[in-house]
Amino acid sequence: MEVVRLASETDFDGWRAAARSLRIRNIEPAAVVWTVDGEPSLLPQTVAPAPGALSVPRAFLDLARQVVLHRSDDRFALLYRLLWRLQSEPNLLHVRSDPDVARARALEKQVSTAIHKMHAFVRFRETRDPDGAERYVAWFEPAHRVTEAAAGFFVRRFANMRFSILTPDACAHWDTAELTFTPGADAADAPSEDALEDYWRTYYASIFNPARLKVKAMQKEMPKAYWRNLPEAALIPELIAKAEAQTQAMIAKAPTEPDRRMVRAAQRASRDAPFDGQAPTTLEEVWAGVSACRRCDLWRCGNGVAGEGPKSAKLMFVGEQPGDNEEQAVKPFVGPAGKVLDRALAEAGVPRAETFVTNAVKHFKHEVRGKRRLHKTPDGGEVQACRWWLDNERRIVRPRVIVALGSTAALSVFGKPTPIGKFRQQAIQLPDQAQGVVTYHPSYLLRVPDKEAKAKAYAMFVDDLRFAWKLAA
Ligand code: URA
Repeated sequence: MEVVRLASETDFDGWRAAARSLRIRNIEPAAVVWTVDGEPSLLPQTVAPAPGALSVPRAFLDLARQVVLHRSDDRFALLYRLLWRLQSEPNLLHVRSDPDVARARALEKQVSTAIHKMHAFVRFRETRDPDGAERYVAWFEPAHRVTEAAAGFFVRRFANMRFSILTPDACAHWDTAELTFTPGADAADAPSEDALEDYWRTYYASIFNPARLKVKAMQKEMPKAYWRNLPEAALIPELIAKAEAQTQAMIAKAPTEPDRRMVRAAQRASRDAPFDGQAPTTLEEVWAGVSACRRCDLWRCGNGVAGEGPKSAKLMFVGEQPGDNEEQAVKPFVGPAGKVLDRALAEAGVPRAETFVTNAVKHFKHEVRGKRRLHKTPDGGEVQACRWWLDNERRIVRPRVIVALGSTAALSVFGKPTPIGKFRQQAIQLPDQAQGVVTYHPSYLLRVPDKEAKAKAYAMFVDDLRFAWKLAA
């Protein structure tokens, strides 16, 4: 019998080293006991490193890295069994009906759901460090041990905010430069109430539409296990109880033709509702608001991606909407269009790090075809709904020049169609004191079929960036 004692519940490297040694020495899965340091065991540890080569598919390592984060006790043994079998069944991972593969895939899926839920349901509370500096602290109980895996998302999203996320398994701390982890904590270590609670509750009540209430679907998205740490969850029973009566009242009112001016006023008011009439005052609030936004249905498409760059930027770029890569990285313009933009910025002598890069629409509108997510152009209503966020970014950053990349961005920035061919290389005065510039969208440059036309359009694009940078200076 071989006993492996791993350093922690999520010790992927330890599992990998031990599994490698065991496999090279031909130790059968049934002859291995997997334990974690701290678990009682009467058997002495026997695994030693073994020299020799072992190759495993990359896909298996990716799967294993994720499965190790699951709370099930059999995960290390299951992964070793798969590793063992892969040597004689190299295509094993493609056999979805195989019980080991099916179980590993199920665990993988549950872990990724846990990461997704953590991204969605962590709620920070404002506190002060002993040195008086602001720190946001959240208490969260993830379904699986995903704190380390989920932490990068918060760093990218709240790069300028000092925060700690406390969980029973591990705590993540970000001081705006370094991400560190400490052992698990107690719910009592986290602050319990602050003004942000009210903000969340107000926001949630304002987006709650009684006529659309589907209790089952809501509980699936926001499982009850998470409610106790969500300030807005306190409202749910009451809102559900009132929903039926409110819906009936709405139906009863429907036949009366409303006054057009009243409708417009109500639409404006409901657009501003997420902050109870108060606009966000920092870019961090914009990020938090975008990730919780329900102003249109595009929130269902995945992560919301707000703008990125210094608050003092003089030049702002506005694209159309994040793409597949951007949605996954939760950063604007990091995919193929971002590469074109980066190259053109470098040629135009514009340092991207000194600019603010954002999008007219903050979610990736797409349709799923097989494994691919295909871009869909946002419609006028979605652009209009998301303008709230763009307008807030404009108000907070106050750039001197705003460059609309492509026609959707131009529609959002100028509030009306602004043909690029007609208006490029012109400074267009905007009501908020900024000057607007319009140019091609980098994705368009990727799509121009003719080589010569493509090079010409790209050169014009670089010229436009140079023009905007000069204007901002
Ligand atoms: N296209 C955009 O308009 N924005 C991005 O962030 C990426 C691609």
